[in-house]
Amino acid sequence: MARILITSALPYINGIKHLGNLVGSQLPADLHARYMRARGHEVMFICATDEHGTPAELAAAKAGKPVADYCAEMHEVQKRLGLGFGLSFDHFGRSSSARNHWLTQHFAGRLAEAGLIDEVEEVQVWSPADNRFLPDRYIEGTCPACGYDKARGDQCENCTKQLTPRELVNPRSAVSGSTELELRPTKHLYLRQSTLRDRLDRWIDSQRGWPILTTSIAKKWLHDGDGLQDRGITRDLDWGVPVRRGDAPWPGMEGKVFYVWFDAPIEYIAATAEWADAQGQPDAAWRRWWRTDEGAADVRYVQFMGKDNVPFHTLSFPATLMGSGEPWKLVDYIKSFNYLTYDGGQFSTSQGRGVFMDHALELLPGDYWRWWLLSHAPESGDSEFTWENFQASVNKDLADVLGNFVSRITKFCAARFGAQVPAEGDYGALEHAAADEIDRRLRAYERHMEAIEVRKAAAELRAIWVAGNEYLQEAAPWSTIRTDREQAAAQVRFALNLMRLYAVVSRPFLPDAAARMMASLASADWTWPADTAAALEALPAGHGFEVPEVLFRKVTDEERAAWAERFAGVRS
Ligand code: 2FM
Ligand code: ZN
Repeated sequence: MARILITSALPYINGIKHLGNLVGSQLPADLHARYMRARGHEVMFICATDEHGTPAELAAAKAGKPVADYCAEMHEVQKRLGLGFGLSFDHFGRSSSARNHWLTQHFAGRLAEAGLIDEVEEVQVWSPADNRFLPDRYIEGTCPACGYDKARGDQCENCTKQLTPRELVNPRSAVSGSTELELRPTKHLYLRQSTLRDRLDRWIDSQRGWPILTTSIAKKWLHDGDGLQDRGITRDLDWGVPVRRGDAPWPGMEGKVFYVWFDAPIEYIAATAEWADAQGQPDAAWRRWWRTDEGAADVRYVQFMGKDNVPFHTLSFPATLMGSGEPWKLVDYIKSFNYLTYDGGQFSTSQGRGVFMDHALELLPGDYWRWWLLSHAPESGDSEFTWENFQASVNKDLADVLGNFVSRITKFCAARFGAQVPAEGDYGALEHAAADEIDRRLRAYERHMEAIEVRKAAAELRAIWVAGNEYLQEAAPWSTIRTDREQAAAQVRFALNLMRLYAVVSRPFLPDAAARMMASLASADWTWPADTAAALEALPAGHGFEVPEVLFRKVTDEERAAWAERFAGVRS
């Protein structure tokens, strides 16, 4: 039994996430966690809301709420939606937790002691009316390139040009609208990550078998990007982790907080500590996952994220951990994803374009989305969500293949043999051939799941369902029974056992359907079918069951059209 630590990139607190966010980190991380648990490994699966930074402050202001209240509410919303999609976190934490404050300040203190932090004086925009420094996003004005009058100090939303506040025409405060802005000197902390370049380079080179997407991005930033320039890790905001040097104040840094990307990955560790607190466990319980001197040397640590997050996880966060000089666990494998597009364009929060987690669950239960998203995960390139494709996947894979198998065999058995596993007859050539094929495919499925090749695993799982349907079609117990009741009984027994096997192996993808299949078989035997032949004898003769409700319903053409219309948003 291995110990596997799994983290999903932390969703920003501001607003409900769309399906593209979900499939880029939380959902595949859940698939991996569920599979590894099913194989008997000890898993710690961690996620949290990423609650700091200007987007959180701005979203709270827009909602007319104090930022702490806004974050507390949105955390609950995201947590509830995660449950709706079957996300099986051991803990879903908050980057604003006391644990994360403490750990973030601790790391900053250690980095300072190691000489890895510079104090740098900079000139920044000060707003007397607001009595504060304004971060770039808090300054609005007219775009020098396209004339859009609500361009932000970091970027023009209209023409996408990257800007600095000084380039804006008629700049004003986004907080108060005041145009009376001045420049003032202020001090910030910089992490000297460039001094760790060689160490990071060697560490990345020593990793075996990372996905090309991950290593190519890391190497690009390390060598020809500007990713390893020394990086400002503090900001002039109220909301965030106050800058302290460990437990001590940091002279000259009063009123400042750490930059959101400094504290967010530290929350992976802090959320594990939050888990221990919630369980009433001592510190040793979380430290055995994170400190190589306290047990974590045996842990395999796997991270999931979208490709835009890769530089932070291959360079900045490891720089924080290595630079601390303490034996923290570094990641062993980074699974990164491309983007999911929506019907020929981008998902857009501001334009209401695409499907968001709350709306998705209003239409259909989580398993329907899990199946489509995972079987179309953007692994080797971007992938596109279309309603035609979604409808086809649900209707064919889930309803016609898996759902139909379950419904046919349970109904037929109940009608002709009663609602219990029939005892008569023996498995013959057809059953052995089907078992062989399923065994071969199961081993392939396991290999893809181990390698976190999500699409390939989904395709193999589907093939395992298809094999069962083909068996049933060929064996045709409804015909057999006319001439040979014993053989028909053996066929039915085989198919009912196959249904249990399907529940077990489908569970990582379809946790809810798997639970319903198992409940209808009145079984709690989730033993993984490492021995396929034995698994196909697991339900004993005479074992009672109930015919389940329809496992998956179909999506009609009318629904498809209505949904496509509803989520089209404002098209450009
Ligand atoms: O890109 C994002 O959505 C970030 N909130 C991810 C943070 S991951 C981690 F480092 F916390
Ligand atoms: Zn512009």
